[in-house]
Amino acid sequence: MRRTVVRLAIFAGIVVTLTQSSFGQRSHALTPDPNAAVVFNAYCAVCHGVDGTGSPTGKSLHAADLRSAAVQKQSNAALARFISEGKERMPAFKSQLTHRQVMDEVLYIRALRHRKNNP
Ligand code: HEC
Repeated sequence: MRRTVVRLAIFAGIVVTLTQSSFGQRSHALTPDPNAAVVFNAYCAVCHGVDGTGSPTGKSLHAADLRSAAVQKQSNAALARFISEGKERMPAFKSQLTHRQVMDEVLYIRALRHRKNNP
C-alpha cells in the first residue's frame, strides 16, 4: 500500500514536471526569437532596413544609417540605452525586448558595419 502511494507521488511529480515544461515551451514560442537577426528583421528593419542603412520609412523619419561612423563610434552602453529608451522618433523597446536581447541587437549592429564593403 505504501509503495503504491510512493509510486503515485512519483507519477504525479512527473506529470507536473512535464506539464510545466510544455507550458514553458509554449510561452517561449510567444516571445521573440532570441536570434538577433530575427529580432532585428521583425522590430527594426521596418525603419532601419534589413542592412541597417534605412528603409524609405526610416529615411523619412531621419533614422541614422546604423553602419555610419556617427552611430558606430558610440559605446555599446549608449546604443543599448538608445534602443531601450528610444529617442525623438526612435521608439523605445524596453517593454518588448529583454536587456539581453537589446545587447544582442547592439552586437548585431556592430556586425552590420563589417558587412559595409562586402554586402
Ligand atoms: C519607427 C521607426 C523605427 C524603428 C521600428 C526602429 N528605429 Fe531605430 N531609429 C529610428 C529613428 C527615427 C532614429 C533616429 C533618431 C534620432 O536620432 O533622433 C533611430 C536611431 C537608431 C539608432 C542610432 C542612434 C544614433 O546614435 O543615432 C540605433 C542604434 C537604433 N535606432 C537601433 C534600433 C533598433 C535595434 C531597433 C529595433 C529593436 C530600432 N532601432 C527600431 C527609427 C526607428
